[in-house]
Amino acid sequence: MSQHLRRFFIRRLPRKTFTIARRHLATQQEFAKNEEKSTHFGFETVKESEKEQKVHKVFENVAADYDLMNDAMSFGVHRIWKDYFMCELSPTDNTKLLDVAGGTGDIAFRFLNYIKNKGHKNCHVTVCDINANMLEVGKIRSRNLGHDPEKISWTEGNAEKLPFEDNTFNAYTIAFGIRNCTHIDKVLEEAYRVLQPGGRFMCLEFSNVENSYAQWIYDQYSFQVIPVLGQLIAGQWKPYQYLVESIRQFPNKELFRTMIEEAGFPRFHMKT
Ligand SMILES: C[S@@+](CC[C@H](N)C(=O)[O-])C[C@H]1O[C@@H](n2cnc3c(N)ncnc32)[C@H](O)[C@@H]1O
Repeated sequence: MSQHLRRFFIRRLPRKTFTIARRHLATQQEFAKNEEKSTHFGFETVKESEKEQKVHKVFENVAADYDLMNDAMSFGVHRIWKDYFMCELSPTDNTKLLDVAGGTGDIAFRFLNYIKNKGHKNCHVTVCDINANMLEVGKIRSRNLGHDPEKISWTEGNAEKLPFEDNTFNAYTIAFGIRNCTHIDKVLEEAYRVLQPGGRFMCLEFSNVENSYAQWIYDQYSFQVIPVLGQLIAGQWKPYQYLVESIRQFPNKELFRTMIEEAGFPRFHMKT
C-alpha cells in the first residue's frame, strides 16, 4: 500500500467512526425522548414529566376553597379520619414530625392540638408541600388558630426529593397526598431517608371498596356528585373530577404493601 493511501485510511477512519458514534447517540436520545414513560393523571394518560405540573395546577386552583370543599365532599367525615390518624400516631414528648403533602395544615394542626393537650413541650412539626398556594392558606389558618409559630414550620418541597438531611425526623405523615405524586416509590425512599432509625411512616389514603354494591354507590357519588359540588361551591369542575379519578388509580393494598416493604420499612400494618 502506498504512503498516500495509508495516510488516507488513518485520517478518514477515526473521523468516520466519530460521525457514526455521534449519529448513533442522537438516535438513542431521540428514542429515549419518544419512549418517555407515561403515567396517569386521573383517567388521562400523560407523560411523566407533565404530571407534576398538572397536579400543581389542580391544587393552585383549589387552594382557596380546599378546606370548605373537603367538608362538603366528605360531609365532614375527613375530620374524623384525620383525628383518628393523629391518635394512631400518638406523638410523644420528643416527636419531630414531617407532614408531607401537608397542604393547608390539617394534620399539623391536629398534631399541635394533641401535644398541647398532653403537655408535650419538645415537639415540632414541619409541613412540606410542593404547592406554595396551599402553604399560604395553611400559614393564615395557623395564625388565625393561634398556634405557636415556634412549633411549626412550612417548607415548599417535593415529596420525591425532600429538601431535608438524612435522619432528621422521627415521624413522617402523608395524608391524601401520595396518590398525587408521580413516583410513589421515590416518595417512600425519601420518607425512609429522612426518618431516623426507628422513626414511623404513616400514610392516610383512600383505598378500593371491596363490596360491589358499596362500590357502585361510591362511584355514583364520586363521579356524579363531587364534580358538581366543585362547580357549585368552588366554581370548578375539572380539579374535582381529577381528585376522584386519582383515587381510582392508586395502587391496591397488596401492591402498596409491597412498595413500602421495598422502600426498606421492616414492620408494617394497614388498617381500613
Ligand atoms: C389532597 S391534598 C392533601 C392535603 C392535606 N394533607 C390534607 O389532608 O388535607 C394533596 C396535597 O398534596 C400536595 N402534593 C401533590 N404532589 C406533591 C409532591 N410531589 N410533593 C409534595 N406535595 C405534593 C398538593 O399540593 C396538595 O397540597
